[in-house]
Amino acid sequence: MKELESRIKKAKDLQSLEKVRISVFGKKGDLAKEFAKLKDLPNDEKAGFAKKLNETKTSLQNLFDATKEKLEQKALQEQLKSEAMDLSMYAPKQKTGALHPVMDTMDRIIEYFAAQNFSVETGPLVEDDFHNFEALNLPKFHPARDMQDTFYCKDGSLLRTHTSPVQIRTMLKTKPPVRMISPGTVFRRDFDLTHTPMFHQVEGLVVEESGEVSFANLKSMLTEFLQYMFGDVAVRFRPSFFPFTEPSAEADISCIFCKGEGCRVCSHTGWLEVLGCGMVDPNVFKAVGYKDVSGYAFGLGVERFAMLIHKIPDLRSLFEGDERLLEQFR
Ligand code: DAH
Repeated sequence: MKELESRIKKAKDLQSLEKVRISVFGKKGDLAKEFAKLKDLPNDEKAGFAKKLNETKTSLQNLFDATKEKLEQKALQEQLKSEAMDLSMYAPKQKTGALHPVMDTMDRIIEYFAAQNFSVETGPLVEDDFHNFEALNLPKFHPARDMQDTFYCKDGSLLRTHTSPVQIRTMLKTKPPVRMISPGTVFRRDFDLTHTPMFHQVEGLVVEESGEVSFANLKSMLTEFLQYMFGDVAVRFRPSFFPFTEPSAEADISCIFCKGEGCRVCSHTGWLEVLGCGMVDPNVFKAVGYKDVSGYAFGLGVERFAMLIHKIPDLRSLFEGDERLLEQFR
């Protein structure tokens, strides 16, 4: 009995305690051996022996349980100690990336129109004359082609100069009604303070049964959109010209720098031009085989939106990858 007790007490950890458990309480353990003696005892001694043995067993079991709990606690403490972290330890700051302001602005525009049930369409960057010009009512030798300084490839294909060709591709593959935007990259041979050879546009197109959409719809839709993007601004529409729309207009917002008072950014007019728009020219519908429909379209430059929203003075800085600029948009 004393020997068994000390064997339990001596266990240093849970593993050695488990060995002790088997040697004491197991089927071939010491207690089992004691119980086996019972059958060889004379009958009048059996009851007394069994009673004592059971008491021994209970007291050993209690000792075992207490020891086990103590060793479990010890193991837990050891584990906690080995896994402890030094929260005061120095850790170098991790640099995280962020969306480029142009992509961020593009995403905001896409989200706005997607929420208004516009589908988001894309098209190839290398276009052909038909989709980029011809079908948009810009026949060969049309003087308006000069407005778009085109990069041509040797085989006659070209880098798209605007996202308007996606209008054509979308109408050619679907029946009206159409309600789409097409965000994307465009290219022009132009590089100065306000132009880069690669930039981004978002085109929009809505086509319904004839008479179902009007210039008034276009104005109210764009006014709401521009106030969503630029906040509390006035919006005005000026007559303009685009070959693919008739009538055409340009939309201005009241200058967000001087609140319309007149400053250097708005050339002292109080207004900033932000997009082109108009009612789709019947020749465009003819080119894609649409009959008895009316529609409106608009196109905008994403860089210009980003520059105005974030008050970035030089367009070129958007493409220099200077971390000091980009860091401000994290
Ligand atoms: N494609 C024109 C450009 O690149 C922008 C534009 C103006 C698109 C008027 C339109 C529109 O759909 O109606 O300058």
